[in-house]
Amino acid sequence: MPEFHVLLAPMEDVSDPPFRAVCKDNGADLMYTEFISSEGLIRDAIKSRQKLDIFDYEKPIGIQIFGGDEEAMAMSAKIVDAVNPDLLDINFGCPVKKVVSKGAGAAVLKDIDLMVRLTKACVNSTSLPVTVKTRLGWDNNNKNIVEVAERLQDIGIKAIAIHGRTRSQLYKGEADWRLIAEVKNNPRMQIPVFGNGDIDSPEKALEYKERYGIDGIMIGRAAIGYPWVFNEIKYYMQTGKHLAAPGIEQRVNVIKKHLLRSIEWKGETLGILEMRRHYSNYLKGLPNIKEYRTKLVTSKSVDEIFEILRDIQDFYIAIKIPGRKLNINELAYSCG
Ligand SMILES: Cc1cc2nc3c(=O)[nH]c(=O)nc-3n(C[C@H](O)[C@H](O)[C@H](O)COP(=O)(O)O)c2cc1C
Repeated sequence: MPEFHVLLAPMEDVSDPPFRAVCKDNGADLMYTEFISSEGLIRDAIKSRQKLDIFDYEKPIGIQIFGGDEEAMAMSAKIVDAVNPDLLDINFGCPVKKVVSKGAGAAVLKDIDLMVRLTKACVNSTSLPVTVKTRLGWDNNNKNIVEVAERLQDIGIKAIAIHGRTRSQLYKGEADWRLIAEVKNNPRMQIPVFGNGDIDSPEKALEYKERYGIDGIMIGRAAIGYPWVFNEIKYYMQTGKHLAAPGIEQRVNVIKKHLLRSIEWKGETLGILEMRRHYSNYLKGLPNIKEYRTKLVTSKSVDEIFEILRDIQDFYIAIKIPGRKLNINELAYSCG
């Protein structure tokens, strides 16, 4: 691992193996799986089990689990242990109702003693390093992240990633990194602290690294349809210069790789189907793209999709479309 880490955030329905493959190619230092329900894991639910799939080329990689029951978390930690990732991450930050209503995700921020017990159950059940990803607190009146971080460190977690919002904020407003810095600057804290929330440009990444002194930056939405963000940030931090924005050939190549990995992982029919949700993010900003996009999301054959991609490449090379610039505000997202 480098001295300063640029991480891919865990994202449900996004950060699966095909997506992680293109992020890894483009510089992600550490990646996480989508979050996995501990109840699902111990029930042997297919969806949960499939999220455990990790590959050697992805290393270092963390598997993220969530849950509100100590026994289920302990058993899940053992299941994860057997898969041998580089770390086990616990999600104490997910704000969505279906998770919070079961006393998991960000709901655990309301009860630090429970959080400590759940974390301890994991730490005691695996030899893997255990890390935690969470938010600033439950709501504006309960921003308890400084205490949370201390207590989790005391029971043996090896790093903490903090999204600079409370649960009740969901995604509203701007992420507040000042409290993340407070955790980092707490003289009692020894473990790495990763900052997360709203990083959408190399300039912002460098500015936040310098201003808040964190050990790494975790990127979520900005990587969706734009995996180049990792190398762009790293290059800018090293040189103060920008990498050239990805041209149409680079975009098409990433789409092809993503699609092929998707097919490799899920088989042809499902792989093609699951890839459909990614095209619009990869092709954002191209003029008159609608017709091509419709063809892509209705095609059922790899050969045909590759042909459409070749047409796209030829067309946009011919009209000399400039390289794409990242813009987080144009991304479609639904969860987290
Ligand atoms: C589609 C989507 C799915 C997410 N799923 C998860 C998840 O499974 N586990 C988790 O800890 N956070 C999840 N999050 C939250 C992100 O990891 C991250 O904390 C958040 O998007 C803020 O970072 P960003 O501003 O760089 O996107 C998700 C976010 C999005 C947009």
